[in-house]
Amino acid sequence: MSFSEMNFSAWLPLAHAPIDLLAVLLLALGIKGLGKVRSARSANRLAAVAMALAVLGLLLQQGLGGWPWWLAGSLLGSLLGVLVAQRVAMTSMPQVVALFNGCGGMASLLVALAAAALPDPPKLLVALSIGVSVLVGGITFSGSLVAMAKLEDWLQTPAWMLQPARHWLNGLTAVSCLGLGWLACVGHPWALLPLAGLSLLLGVGLTLPIGGADMPVVISLLNSYSGVAAAAAGFVVGSELLIVAGAMVGAAGLILTQVMCRAMNRSLTSVLFGGALGGGNVGSSDQGEYSNVTSCSPEECAMTLEQAQRVVFVPGYGLAVAQAQHSLREVAQLLERHGVEVRYAIHPVAGRMPGHMNVLLAEADVPYDQLVEMESINPDFPRTDVVIVLGANDVVNPQARTDPSSPLYGMPVLHVEEATTVFVVKRSLGAGYAGIRNSLFECPNTSMIFGDAKQVLNGLLQELRELGVGKAPAAKDLAKVG
Ligand code: TAP
Repeated sequence: MSFSEMNFSAWLPLAHAPIDLLAVLLLALGIKGLGKVRSARSANRLAAVAMALAVLGLLLQQGLGGWPWWLAGSLLGSLLGVLVAQRVAMTSMPQVVALFNGCGGMASLLVALAAAALPDPPKLLVALSIGVSVLVGGITFSGSLVAMAKLEDWLQTPAWMLQPARHWLNGLTAVSCLGLGWLACVGHPWALLPLAGLSLLLGVGLTLPIGGADMPVVISLLNSYSGVAAAAAGFVVGSELLIVAGAMVGAAGLILTQVMCRAMNRSLTSVLFGGALGGGNVGSSDQGEYSNVTSCSPEECAMTLEQAQRVVFVPGYGLAVAQAQHSLREVAQLLERHGVEVRYAIHPVAGRMPGHMNVLLAEADVPYDQLVEMESINPDFPRTDVVIVLGANDVVNPQARTDPSSPLYGMPVLHVEEATTVFVVKRSLGAGYAGIRNSLFECPNTSMIFGDAKQVLNGLLQELRELGVGKAPAAKDLAKVG
């Protein structure tokens, strides 16, 4: 048989298996690589290649039928993804993740409904998967949109949503969903439409009462749901690739949810059923008045830094808002040239998303080995000369350790107050995300430097240069050599 006589259409559908396998492998490597700052960028690219291969594999499995539609859909989706990713500010990333989760949920719901509309009645496993796809996909879609709207401050929790009666309402909706799902499985496909409607309602009912501070945890959980919905859709359309990828996303989202809950000292139950607890967005009451707060200028801070040997910077949400990471890096480089040991203390939930501070500092080319996790750096604070807290608040609040009545009590925090001198850079004495006062501001070794983080750091840079810091080898280094 000559090459031209080969029946391509016969072997094309078989060619998808190795491509699928490669896609799963790359996706797994991508997810693994995202766990480390150093490999995150390349891991993201691997995952993108895995997605492209997945589309190709599915196209081959279907014998290239309707390829112009596939191509148009993939190109349009990729274009939208690139546009959104380029425009979004790093501080708004949780909202974008929520939007993407919602799209995933809706895609699974629509795929399941389309499969149910086929003339052949589905087998029990497929019928069950259709029900799960519709239910979980609907909850994911509406829940994610509510989460995004709340984070963007487009939506507030209505007071009636905080009444305990909402649990009954949600419970009733959930039971009705199960009933409709069962009907759909036993040969009544019409039940899928009311199931879709009620699952959308349930997503709103479950997410709307949750407070701003807990919202990133919910987004991570919804990410896990979107994986479950995708895996179920994989059973519906008979795609092993979608089943594996969905399961991986589901498991990764669940692990991340647990990690975040632990870092915020919140149980998942209290996040899901506790209502709008904590969170600056929902207006906490404990603002309190401060007494004995000391403030100083960048000049005084520069003079202290000139004498220091060990300095730790604590980045927080305000540093990201001010986009001051490059100025920070410049200050750090001057100090290093002066012979100062510089490190950065990374709290797991500093900022507004997991890894926020790592990404921010990586943008300014801060060496990875200077980023130290909370558990490792906490024992070092007593032998640290200067700590500079930059736009961080809740993650350095000593009340989390000392005040059992504080909403933050029990949350692991950075023990910065144990350092010899602490400078806190922020614009006012205003509260952080949890909406509570911070006793660090009143510690005798703390000085506030009021102002925008970028302006303060630029001022500090100027003062350090005027003092000659970083210009010539530091006297302490020369002494060591001598
Ligand atoms: P926050 O406690 O939110 O405090 C940020 C501080 O930055 C504010 O007090 C604000 O004070 C200051 N700020 C704002 N803009 C500034 C600017 N331009 N220059 C200087 N300072 C500025 O931040 P954090 O310590 O990073 O803690 C993160 C919070 O988010 C925690 O409560 C955490 O539980 C919560 N959270 C995080 C995550 C993840 S995964 N990261 C998830 C859920 C919840 P001024 O207004 O006075 O300037």
